[in-house]
Amino acid sequence: MTPFCTRLDLAHPIVQAPMAGVAHGDLAAAVSAAGGLGMLGVRGDASTDWVAEQAAIAARGGRFGVGLLLWSLGDGALLGHVLEHGPALVSLSFGDPAPYVSRVHDAGALVASQVQTVAAARQALDAGVDVLVAQGTEAGGHTGSIATLPLLQQVLPLGAQAGVPVLAAGGIATGRAVAGVLTMGADAAWIGTRFAATREAAFSAGAKDRILAAESTDTVLTHVFDLVQEADWPAQFPGRALRNRLTDRWHGREEALADDLPDVQEQFRDAVARDDRDVAHVYAGQASGLVQDLPAAAEVLTALMDEAATSLQRVAALLGDTGAGGHLSR
Ligand SMILES: Cc1cc2nc3c(=O)[nH]c(=O)nc-3n(C[C@H](O)[C@H](O)[C@H](O)COP(=O)(O)O)c2cc1C
Repeated sequence: MTPFCTRLDLAHPIVQAPMAGVAHGDLAAAVSAAGGLGMLGVRGDASTDWVAEQAAIAARGGRFGVGLLLWSLGDGALLGHVLEHGPALVSLSFGDPAPYVSRVHDAGALVASQVQTVAAARQALDAGVDVLVAQGTEAGGHTGSIATLPLLQQVLPLGAQAGVPVLAAGGIATGRAVAGVLTMGADAAWIGTRFAATREAAFSAGAKDRILAAESTDTVLTHVFDLVQEADWPAQFPGRALRNRLTDRWHGREEALADDLPDVQEQFRDAVARDDRDVAHVYAGQASGLVQDLPAAAEVLTALMDEAATSLQRVAALLGDTGAGGHLSR
């Protein structure tokens, strides 16, 4: 049991990542009920009714978390609505959490922040967050450019020094990887893409099909979908999505896209309406290559923990019965 799990009363060191448009109440409830932490992904333009409805569904599974996008919070009204529903953990990601941390603490919740660089990790610690999430570039959705392993190795000592648990995000879709990051010193794995392809996820059928069919080489880190949707994502956070005809045409040609924007927006809206994911977006990470089925979220959790236990037993066996060194030192 890691300190993070103890603090949130989790049976398993697994957080289902907040994913706007994908992680709604049903998914969060299923993961929390199975012993992980389910999280709602909340867009900046979410209505108070939507937040209330989805939080009520999530709460059926027990305690839950909520993920917010810092750059969309403005005066904090949305954060206020979220806090009314008693989340145990609030993720304030993609920006400086400092202006909002004390409000979350006053409401009795913990603050997590996904960080993509060492500088962002220091900024989040200075802001007083309770949990750091080292998010590598393999991750689905918006992310930075450093891979999970080198980022995690740099963020872990910062967290340890500050007494703040560090979670690992990006590219984790098997129990082997869960065991790997726990062995490195992470308190839990923060998993998106694997949970996006589950029965409870609110992703469209077309999007789920594309994830099942994708290889790890099929993603692209791009601004194209944000430009088309006129989303105000800060430039340092492109989004990792599955490549499709739209990105093949416009990724790397963003200036030309700006000239053709109204036409492309019409194609995009039409594709979303028809669930044509050859043009519409599917945010997903490099772990897509590891996802070939569409189970219930609880089954994913069980499989992750069974495989993680096997991997950790293998590590224990490598060390031998007599303690440190063992076979490894030979
Ligand atoms: C479809 C999708 C949507 C996402 N939306 C959000 C979001 O709204 N807020 C957020 O903080 N992170 C978001 N993320 C990033 C996740 O929180 C997490 O960092 C990522 O999924 C971890 O990497 P993995 O996909 O390889 O498991 C999203 C990820 C995906 C796949």
